[in-house]
Amino acid sequence: MAALSPPALDPQGMDLRQQMPALANKTYFNYGGQGPLPQASLDAIQAAWVTLQELGPFTSEVWPFLNRTSTKLRERLGQWFGVAPRRVAFSENVTSGCLLPLWGLPWEAGDTVLIGDAEHPGVVAGCRELARRHQLHVTNLAVADQRGDSASAAAGVLASLEQALTPSTRLVVLSHLLWNTGQIMPIAAIAERLAAHPKHPWLLVDGAQSLGSIPVEAAAGAADIYACTGHKWCCGPEGLGAIALSERLLLESRPTLIGWRSLSDEGSASSGFHGDGRRFEVATSCTPLMAGLNQSLQLLEACGTAEERWQRIRARSGQLWGELVGTEGITPLLSSPPPGGLVSFTLTDGLGRERLPEDGVKQLGRQGLWLRSLENPACLRACTHLTTTPEEVGRLVRSLATLVAA
Ligand SMILES: Cc1ncc(COP(=O)(O)O)c(C=O)c1O
Repeated sequence: MAALSPPALDPQGMDLRQQMPALANKTYFNYGGQGPLPQASLDAIQAAWVTLQELGPFTSEVWPFLNRTSTKLRERLGQWFGVAPRRVAFSENVTSGCLLPLWGLPWEAGDTVLIGDAEHPGVVAGCRELARRHQLHVTNLAVADQRGDSASAAAGVLASLEQALTPSTRLVVLSHLLWNTGQIMPIAAIAERLAAHPKHPWLLVDGAQSLGSIPVEAAAGAADIYACTGHKWCCGPEGLGAIALSERLLLESRPTLIGWRSLSDEGSASSGFHGDGRRFEVATSCTPLMAGLNQSLQLLEACGTAEERWQRIRARSGQLWGELVGTEGITPLLSSPPPGGLVSFTLTDGLGRERLPEDGVKQLGRQGLWLRSLENPACLRACTHLTTTPEEVGRLVRSLATLVAA
């Protein structure tokens, strides 16, 4: 029997909200840290585990089920990324998705690695260690100070890239949506510029904040490594991520961590590696998580197209940004409404002195309002998703206003 497509959900995200146990007892703004898991995804994980036990756990009858589950998700992610399923690899999280394909590339001593100055510390540390092992130079690409509207930020980033590129540049590392300022990077235009460089540097994109929050097709299709996770904006389970890889990377990168799943013949150590994304998968992992992520992605699809969902996320982050701008003692990092769902801001007290972001986070947490602090730049960050209501935004702004007035 053909699979039934799920019924459409309220495009304003309220049906989805009803499905999330985590949202029943708190006012939540940490979607960029971890998204809440819908009940249907929790059920899908459990159902997959039950099936796995009924058919297996280790019998000839269980393998077709495991293969169907992973193939379905690989195909769905291929559609989200706008790439063929062979260009999709599963990973455990964003960081390993960035680093495992990267470390397998052919490096030469003296190559330069250009890293955005607003990247996540784990990815930066992995790039630095790569540089140490291969005697590469590491330089910074200035993007964190691009705080204006999307068009001027994109122009600023491209100008900064132009200044930073040298004949020895072999890699550019940048997020699609910056986790601290909330600015979008012009990834497709950067890829185009790099293709014109004599060495055609690799482009590694950290998609931690983009998959599930903004349309990713153009960027994922243009990057060499576009690494994401299911546990943030996709509202899937933690422990499962995915990478979109370019064809040239699949040809040139050797797997870093190797196991039977990387091999084209899993029974033979001398068989060679898969030619597709599976070369970066390692060994036994948790298939029920795939059923959970697949369910979460289907639920998001039922709320509208990627573009429609993005516009709704922006409507709510725009509301929050606008209300913060109008509140004394609060200064958003961006000077225009955020292009995604991340809204970062600083707080000052009545004398204009900056307040410690972590103190604000603690005080709001005591009221059941959850956001986070960031160190660089020091600020608070609130995320709005499809499930965020205008009333929640109002509650947050009122609590912040009381806090800065105290
Ligand atoms: C931009 C960015 N990169 C990487 C990470 C790390 O994600 P993971 O734990 O899935 O590797 C995060 C997590 O917040 C992030 O925001």
